[in-house]
Amino acid sequence: MTHGCLRFILISLLSVFATSPITLREAAAPRRILMGAAVSSRHLDDAKYTALIASEFSQLEPENEMKFGPIQPRPSSDPQPYNFAPADAIVAFAQAHHLAVRGHTLVWHQQVPQWVSKGQFTTSQLASILHDHISTEVSHFGAKVYAWDVVNEAFNKDGTLRSTLWYNQPGIGFAGQGTKYIEQALEWAHAANPQAKLFYNDYDAETENPKSDAIYAMASDFKQRGVPLTGIGFQAHLTIDFDQPEKLKSYAANLQRFSDLGLELHITELDVRLKDSNPASLNAEAHLYGEIAGVCVRNPSCKAIQTWGVTDKYSWIPFSFKGYGWGLLFDDAYQPKPAYTSVLSALMKNGKE
Ligand code: XIL
Repeated sequence: MTHGCLRFILISLLSVFATSPITLREAAAPRRILMGAAVSSRHLDDAKYTALIASEFSQLEPENEMKFGPIQPRPSSDPQPYNFAPADAIVAFAQAHHLAVRGHTLVWHQQVPQWVSKGQFTTSQLASILHDHISTEVSHFGAKVYAWDVVNEAFNKDGTLRSTLWYNQPGIGFAGQGTKYIEQALEWAHAANPQAKLFYNDYDAETENPKSDAIYAMASDFKQRGVPLTGIGFQAHLTIDFDQPEKLKSYAANLQRFSDLGLELHITELDVRLKDSNPASLNAEAHLYGEIAGVCVRNPSCKAIQTWGVTDKYSWIPFSFKGYGWGLLFDDAYQPKPAYTSVLSALMKNGKE
């Protein structure tokens, strides 16, 4: 081989590397940030969907399959109380493609099976049902699920505790004792897998406000007393009006105060719902995505950025917010949107600015 020929091959190789686009997962890896997506087992036979997940993401979370109702549709006395197959399929997919799995969620007031919600159980029966549920589910997945949203959405907007089956209707035994029932759930999850990272997860707690103040007070109490809480999940189901300097400043300061407690931070359910897909709207969405990702990148305790879905085609938004859609990084045709490029460049910035 002549010198010129070798030179030509080398230059061609270099230009291939230089132009081959980097993926989200590749851009996030040097930051030690996992780039996650909520996924649905119903779409695992969609090859475009799975290809995108495998190349762009480093973490998965089942959108519904690990919630109480879907995973334990029948009582423990039933010969087959659990329906693990859909969640197992997601976990198997994740393992085959080297993706981390976040579990979602063990204690929530929604998607509770009828046998529980309509069962007229006493407090002590409910406590043993929840204990059994948490132990069985966490043990079933073991080390395959590295982090759990143990309790989801326990606070109201004003910072008071939400009245739920698990807290005070009738609750698992700590009604009126503040966050004690959340502590109990964390202890049960910890006993079932001491290695798992355990999270409290909520929405509208991204900025400093009465809800995040209440979560902060709980987290600081838990840290002080050694309750096994690893971190906080910030859902971040957003609209464009979040993109204001005061809100973004408050969001960064809020994350900072939680990280100062020694907690890990995950952005868990990010989406930015729009009323149309005009270029201006898509660019505004992109800008906000960049800001949200940027704050995570600049806070060393922020270790995951996860969107609530992959493609707009399968997003929960049109079903839950009438007139809205277009909230994710990939469009209906699985093509990357301006928001994708914006998150990618936030991940690739040097973090100092
Ligand atoms: C949503 C799912 O996306 C929907 O498919 C389901 O019908 C309802 O739940 N906060 C959460 C998630 O913590 O579990 C919710 O997921 C969205 C809001």
